[in-house]
Parts: sequence; structure tokens; C-alpha cells
Amino acid sequence: MFVSEVSYGNWITHGSQVEEDAAQACVRAALDSGITTFDTADVYAGTRAEAVLGRALKGERREGLEIFTKVFWPVGPGRNDNGLSRKHIMESINNSLRRLQTDYVDLYQAHRYDYSTPLEETMTAFADIVHSGKAHYIGVSEWTADQIRAGHALAQELRIPLVSSQPQYSMLWRVIEAEVVPVCEELGIGQIVWSPIAQGVLTGKYLPGQAPPEGSRATDDKSGAGFVAGWLRDDVLTRVQQLKPLAEQAGLSMAQLAIAWVLQNPNVSSAIVGATRPEQVFDNVKASGVKLGADLLKAIDEIVDPVTERDPAKTVSPSKRPGA
Ligand SMILES: NC(=O)c1ccc[n+]([C@@H]2O[C@H](COP(=O)([O-])OP(=O)(O)OC[C@H]3O[C@@H](n4cnc5c(N)ncnc54)[C@H](OP(=O)(O)O)[C@@H]3O)[C@@H](O)[C@H]2O)c1
Repeated sequence: MFVSEVSYGNWITHGSQVEEDAAQACVRAALDSGITTFDTADVYAGTRAEAVLGRALKGERREGLEIFTKVFWPVGPGRNDNGLSRKHIMESINNSLRRLQTDYVDLYQAHRYDYSTPLEETMTAFADIVHSGKAHYIGVSEWTADQIRAGHALAQELRIPLVSSQPQYSMLWRVIEAEVVPVCEELGIGQIVWSPIAQGVLTGKYLPGQAPPEGSRATDDKSGAGFVAGWLRDDVLTRVQQLKPLAEQAGLSMAQLAIAWVLQNPNVSSAIVGATRPEQVFDNVKASGVKLGADLLKAIDEIVDPVTERDPAKTVSPSKRPGA
């Protein structure tokens, strides 16, 4: 299956930070600019995000889209409303398909590793979902190299395609490079990376020592502000400002530079980018196909290195299933 190099994700935005008309406009902008790949999850905005995406994509030619969703985080109050047990996976896929108004998703992803469920149980449930036609491919998100290897071996036995890993990856967060990427290259698994612009931070719009711009994620009290807060440190923001002349010299916006940067890694199949308004989508999509030269990559490394996280131990899942 081909995916678009830049894909569109709706975490924090659809059903929460932005109203329905803005969500629809962003999806329209994505479709108009050639994005065919859309990423969501059952848990986003308490299940509302899938429903918004379903409405926004309604009427589009299904064969021209790749729709991804995920299962793991809690979607209800019960002990079985989360995790990767057979019960929850089987229930969650049906609910996701109903909200997305589609008969199948192209990629069904384990949103984290579940230490409370035997991996065999999870992979057998995924196999039944693939064999029933409700998902075409299986993926994982934030799994360690060893977990990916074990999941892949079972997928081979069960004859289902485990094709992707969805980790956080950006100039500021490079924890997959040491272990996850080499194992995935060996196994033929691609990275579909999240937060490639560090939730907006790598666009340079957050300035050190200043209040965040109105209407940005950092001012979204519903949920966004809490998630982006970790990046809003003066040492990070100061370094990001130093990237501006490099982007200008390369004829790129800061967002394009950051997205193009993740796409230079040959193991990265797609960068999932979020947006609150169509102009951002039009800006971001232009990163597709951009080649960054060795000198530019070196200059970027020198600037961000002191604030870049590289420790592979930062790929983590909860130690037990929520509610276990
Ligand atoms: N698997 C996982 O555990 C996981 C976790 C997180 C995300 N994801 C996936 O990855 C997707 C992207 O994540 P993300 O939204 O955190 O990442 P991101 O793409 O790094 O940040 C997106 C946000 O940055 C701002 N922005 C985007 N383009 C901009 C531009 N050109 N100029 C200025 N600001 C711009 C917008 O927020 P404001 O306008 O509000 O500032 C937008 O919502 C999610 O939707 C989801 O599909 C997966």
C-alpha cells in the first residue's frame, strides 16, 4: 500500500480544539493538496475525532484514501474499555468503523504495548480482524525494538502484514534512531511518525520568554496546552529560533524544514502532521519531495543537538493496562 509522504492527523484538533467547520476545511485542504492518508484513534477527543473524520471524508472515493486508526487507550469507564485484549480489540474496531462510516480501515494500530495481555492474544485478534476484512494492515505505535520483533514474528506465523511503527520523531526527539529504526529496516517495517513539528514548536512561532500566540495549541486549555507544555522551554525555543536563517536560505518555511527533515530518514514512510487551519495544511504539504543537503543537515544538528532527546529508553508504554 502506498501512503502520502505527508499525512493528516486529527489528535487534539477534531472534536476538541477546533469546531466542525474548521476540521472539515482542513480535511478538504488535505484532499485538495494531494494528501490521501489520514490518521486518527478511537481515544481522540473521547471518540469524537473519528466521527468528525468520518463525516469529513464521507462521499470521497474510498479506494483513493488510506484511513488509519488505533486501539489501546481508554474509551469508556469499564475495565475492558482499554488495552489490547481480544474483547476490547474486537469491540473497538467495530465502534471505530461505525464512527468512521467505513467497512474497513487500511491500517489498524496498537496505540501502545499492553503488558497486561499476552502478545499472542493480541496478535490473534488482529489476525481475525485482517482475515475478516475489517483492516488491511496492522501497525504498532511506540513499541520498543524487541516488542516490534516479537510482534512481527507472530504476525509472520499468523500470515498477517505488520507493516508500520508509529513513533514520535522530529529534530528534537530522535529516540527511535538507535534501536527501533535498525530493527524495522531489517524487518521491512516503515515509520509513520507523529509530531514531526513538535506540536507546532518547530514552526518557530513560540518565542523564548514570551506568551504563546493566541489560538495556538499552547493556549488550548481543553487538552492541547498540557501536551505541548514540555517543549516550551527557553533553551529549546532559543535553539529553534536559530534555525530560521537556515530555513530562509533553503527557501522553506520552518514547518516545511522540520517535516522535510523527518522525511530524509529512508525508514520514514510518512510524516503525520496536524493542523488547525487550511493554510497550515497548504504550507506543510510542500515539504513532500524536498531534499535537504548534507551541509544543511549538519548545520541543523549543530544547532539542536544540545536540546535533542536520543535515549532509546524513552520509547515507553504504561507498565500495566489502565484499570488493571
Ligand atoms: N501514536 C501516537 O501516540 C500519537 C501521538 C500524538 C500524535 N499522533 C498522530 O500524529 C498527528 C500529528 O501530531 P501533532 O498534531 O502533535 O503534531 P504536529 O504535526 O507536530 O503539530 C501540529 C500542530 O502544529 C500547529 N501547526 C501545524 N502546521 C503549522 C504551520 N504550518 N504553521 C504553524 N503552526 C502549525 C497546529 O497547532 P496550532 O495551530 O494549534 O498551534 C497543529 O495542530 C496526530 O494528529 C496524530 O494523528 C500519534
